[in-house]
Amino acid sequence: MSDVQFTHGDTNWFVNDRFGMFIHWGLYAQGARHEWLMNNEKIPLEEYERRYFKRFDPDLYNPELWASAAADAGMKYFVVTTKHHEGFCLWDTQQTAYKAPNTAARRDLIRPLVDAFRGRGLRTGFYYSLLDWHHPHYVIDNRIGPYRELPEAERAKMNAGRDMAQYAAYMRAQVRELLTNYGQVDVLWFDFSYPDREHPEDCTRGKGRLAWESEKLYRLVRELQPHVIVDDRLDMPGSGDIKTPEQFQPREWCKVNGQPVVWEACQTFSGSWGYHRDESSWRSVDELLRTLIDCVSKGGNLLLNVGPTGRGEFDVRALDRLHGMGSWMKQHSRSIYGCTQAPAEFTTPEQTRLTWNPVTKRLYVHLFAWPYKHLHLDGAAFAQRVEYAQLLNDASEVGMGLSTWYADQLKGEGARETLVLNLPQQRPNVAVPVIELFLK
Ligand code: GLC
Repeated sequence: MSDVQFTHGDTNWFVNDRFGMFIHWGLYAQGARHEWLMNNEKIPLEEYERRYFKRFDPDLYNPELWASAAADAGMKYFVVTTKHHEGFCLWDTQQTAYKAPNTAARRDLIRPLVDAFRGRGLRTGFYYSLLDWHHPHYVIDNRIGPYRELPEAERAKMNAGRDMAQYAAYMRAQVRELLTNYGQVDVLWFDFSYPDREHPEDCTRGKGRLAWESEKLYRLVRELQPHVIVDDRLDMPGSGDIKTPEQFQPREWCKVNGQPVVWEACQTFSGSWGYHRDESSWRSVDELLRTLIDCVSKGGNLLLNVGPTGRGEFDVRALDRLHGMGSWMKQHSRSIYGCTQAPAEFTTPEQTRLTWNPVTKRLYVHLFAWPYKHLHLDGAAFAQRVEYAQLLNDASEVGMGLSTWYADQLKGEGARETLVLNLPQQRPNVAVPVIELFLK
């Protein structure tokens, strides 16, 4: 779509690459029951530190393995939680002692990760939580965090001496480190804002751009890495390079003020972002591929999340999904990279998704069901512009044109403008079959 609103960060590579890996890793991996467990179970800070900070020991951590799993799945960029809401930092920050080097890991865990992923050709993204349930100056509110349900007087007592401005300065100092010490950062993923609607200035009821001092933060980011893509969660209208729907699939190309924008859905395998041992809601390779295809067919990206274990591994369920997606991508990535929503004159047949490469002028029909023999593509655009059709997995020709039976049926109806593809009886043995259409 040519009227997409572009913003300040460089999204040229982003709309080409389409597929990235989200990584949620922190102390919560040990709880293994959701990255929000500190909030959900109202675990006091000291208790949380005692259980998880003291015992964090990712002895099997090998970022080279993570990087190959991502690259082999066809992912082109990654976004890692440098700090999640719990406040624990995976890098060697100078702003707090609550960091990986002070655990049994004894090192900066971000640097080797960045090196490994870059080594496999992936671009670098940092997730940074605006929320922080650890920082001594983070003002406790009645909405989110382990102390949210304490009586107001108790919260007020805990808030005595806390100064949100100092926390905002802490964030700037940390973001400066992240944008200074790790080379080019391509994505900065801030998470998230929840200002109180009636009292946006009151950080004991919620937090948004006033609490985070978003403008200052944003200015710093642009000064340090002008090209970096910044997401849309700073509660600062106009600051987002990408729109980030989470845990649901948009029905159509995402818009802001009625204008289509660059967007990326972020999705999980099973519901939580952090490693969850007991979730049984894992999606299949087929479903995940359909999600990726669906994103691209609406002009968007997919950031698919992995939650490594407390020992520093991707578990077998994650590896299985990544491997399955990679097998499909090996033969079909041509319908993903560099592709976008098809021009409006190509109407999408039932149970399919279309993607379109505007440079090569090829159209891709992803078949979510395998029809009996005929696939009907309605409309003059299909009927007049398609020159040749093939299955993408093996470049085998797909016949075009009406069979005599259909031609007879249509008699008297006038010239219906439909392209009919003649599919083989045998569905190709791939997760989602794709037909590549070459246009005049
Ligand atoms: C959320 C959650 C979270 C996750 C994130 C990813 O807002 O707080 O745990 O990190 O979004 O999009």
